Amino acid sequence: MDFESLIAQARAAREKAYAPYSNFAVGAALLTGSGRVFTGCNVENLSFGLTICAERNAVFAAVAAGERKFVKIAIIADSNTPVSPCGACRQVLAEFGLDLEVCSSNLQGEQFQASLNQLLPRASEGILGT
Ligand code: THU
Repeated sequence: MDFESLIAQARAAREKAYAPYSNFAVGAALLTGSGRVFTGCNVENLSFGLTICAERNAVFAAVAAGERKFVKIAIIADSNTPVSPCGACRQVLAEFGLDLEVCSSNLQGEQFQASLNQLLPRASEGILGT
């Protein structure tokens, strides 16, 4: 599955975002090793720190469905330049493999692509003796 198709699914997921505090809606679509796609949107909370990003919601939905191998993730937001996944999401994604390909797009179609390895070097170094 190419990134254009994943971005289209992320765009649809973004429509479901609950972002009354930031007004910044984000959608994500995660392709698993078995070819399934799981989507997520950001869900904010009055207690701001409880907000969950679109990327993590997609990962958690996939894991809850029994998936642990991830190939690509597409992210979309209405931003001047393509949005970059936050550090927390990078670390959560890294739990399942650093070969993940990440593609982010804004609504105009401007994109950047990188591997998770590039976005989060030394992800597990020094933790629990690894
Ligand atoms: N957000 C995401 O969902 N993903 C990102 O990659 C960047 C930030 C959300 C969190 C919050 O609801 C809003 O965007 C503003 O930071």
